[in-house]
Amino acid sequence: MASSTTDLLRRLHEQSQTEVIARARAQFQGSSEEFLTLAEEYETLVPRLRGRFLETLGLSGEDFESSQGTPLSLAVSAETGRFLRNMVLSHKPARILELGSSCGVSTLYFAEALRTLGSGMVVATELDADKCARLRTHVAMSGVGAYVDVREGDVFQTVAGLDGTFDMVFIDVWADTYLPLFRQIERLLRPGSIVLADNMYTAEDAVRPYKRYLDDDPRFSTTTLDFESGVEFTVVVS
Ligand SMILES: C[S@@+](CC[C@H](N)C(=O)[O-])C[C@H]1O[C@@H](n2cnc3c(N)ncnc32)[C@H](O)[C@@H]1O
Repeated sequence: MASSTTDLLRRLHEQSQTEVIARARAQFQGSSEEFLTLAEEYETLVPRLRGRFLETLGLSGEDFESSQGTPLSLAVSAETGRFLRNMVLSHKPARILELGSSCGVSTLYFAEALRTLGSGMVVATELDADKCARLRTHVAMSGVGAYVDVREGDVFQTVAGLDGTFDMVFIDVWADTYLPLFRQIERLLRPGSIVLADNMYTAEDAVRPYKRYLDDDPRFSTTTLDFESGVEFTVVVS
């Protein structure tokens, strides 16, 4: 990966984490000492217990993101980003559809991998205009503009206007929209397409309809990867 992109990603990961911790602290009712204890406890939890933990404290979901002030970036972790990059390097998708791009952290992992391969395009979708502006700046700073097609607006409308097929899809919008959104993109998939969805653990209740739908339909082979926020890894079989 280009060192300028590595530096940018490091900064964006740090910013995102700092924002989340500051928002969590502002919303947490207890003392600073209690907050630190809970933060330490969170770090020791296995991934699949983290969502329930945050939920119990009221520190997860769309309400948490939109509750006060500036919308959070909510970027994927560096570990998840490296996983996305490796998925692209190994599967060599010509077309990637990213649903929920925020300020572009996951987009940069996809685009950097496409640059390494020398071809391909990631369609990046984001509703929030300020986030889209930052996404475009980050893409330009990394010099990966040739591999990114930014679509600003509601993802359901954006998807309705797409055609052809996508080799890889990444779902990272609000968790309660995963299933309706997936139903809408099914027509853009082909046998062998890979669909990845983040937050299967951290938004466990909200994503349950999506998980059930995939589990129950023989056209899809699916498993939840047990790391970070929980990533659903689905392959279209037929
Ligand atoms: C978890 S963040 C995405 C993080 C991003 N993948 C990254 O790694 O930086 C979810 C994003 O989905 C966007 N979003 C939520 N609902 C949307 C919608 N209906 N259309 C487009 N974007 C939406 C939010 O504005 C938010 O930026």
